[in-house]
Amino acid sequence: MAGRGKFITFEGLDGSGKSTQLQKLAAVLRADKIALTCTREPGGTAVGEKIRNVLLDTATCGLAPRAELALMFAARAQHIKEVIEPALKAGHFVLCDRFTDSSEAYQGGGRQLGSKLILELHRIFCNNLQPDLTILMDSDVAASVERAKRRNNLRSERSGSAEPDENRFEHESRAFFERVHATYLAIAARDRDRVVTVNARGTPHQTHEQIVEIVHRKLKLRRGQHC
Ligand code: TYD
Repeated sequence: MAGRGKFITFEGLDGSGKSTQLQKLAAVLRADKIALTCTREPGGTAVGEKIRNVLLDTATCGLAPRAELALMFAARAQHIKEVIEPALKAGHFVLCDRFTDSSEAYQGGGRQLGSKLILELHRIFCNNLQPDLTILMDSDVAASVERAKRRNNLRSERSGSAEPDENRFEHESRAFFERVHATYLAIAARDRDRVVTVNARGTPHQTHEQIVEIVHRKLKLRRGQHC
C-alpha cells in the first residue's frame, strides 16, 4: 500500500501566477510518475464550486467579512473531507491552489479580522491540517492586481455579462492588497519550515525552475524518481 502523500499549497496575490506555476509543477511531477491530485480553493468539490460562485461574483453585495470567512471555511471543510484527505491517504501528492493561508492573508489581513480567529477556525474545522510545503509567490501588489483584473475582464467578456464573474476581490483597494501582502510575509516569517517564498517577478520559466528545485529539496525527491 502507498504511504501518505504530500500536501503542497500555492499562495500569493491575485495575478501572481500561482495557477500557471501549479500546472507547470504538476507536469514535472507527472513525468516523475508521481500520482497527483490538482485542486483549488475556494472550490474543488461540487458544493465548494457553488460557494466559490457566491464568494467571487461581483453581483454578491454586502457580504459581511465574517460571513465571507465562514463560507471560505465551509468550502474548505468539504474539500478536505471529499478530496484532500482521501487523496493523501491514497498516496497522492495534492497540489492545491490556495488554502488556509489565503484566509489568513485576505480575511485576517485584508479584512482585518486578525490571524487568531483564522487559526482557531482552522483548528476546529480543518483538524489543523498543515501542508507539507507552501510555495508563496511573492510579487508586487500593483502589477499583480492589474494582471488579475485584465485576465478576469477578458474572461467575463468571453462568457457574457449574464454569467457570474470572479472579480469581487479585484474591486478591493490598494490598501487592502498591501495588507494581504504584508500578512503573507508575516506567515512566511512565522512558519519558516513550511513556507518557502519564491520571487515571482521574473519570467514564468525562472519562477518554475526555483519551484522545482525547492520541491525536490524540501520533500527530498530525486529528479526522475519518486522516493
Ligand atoms: P483565485 O481563484 O486563486 O484567484 P487568482 O487566480 O486571481 O489568484 O482566488 C480567488 C479569490 O479568493 C482571491 O481573490 C483570493 C480569495 N480568497 C480569500 O479571500 N480567502 C480564501 O480563503 C481563499 C481560498 C481565497
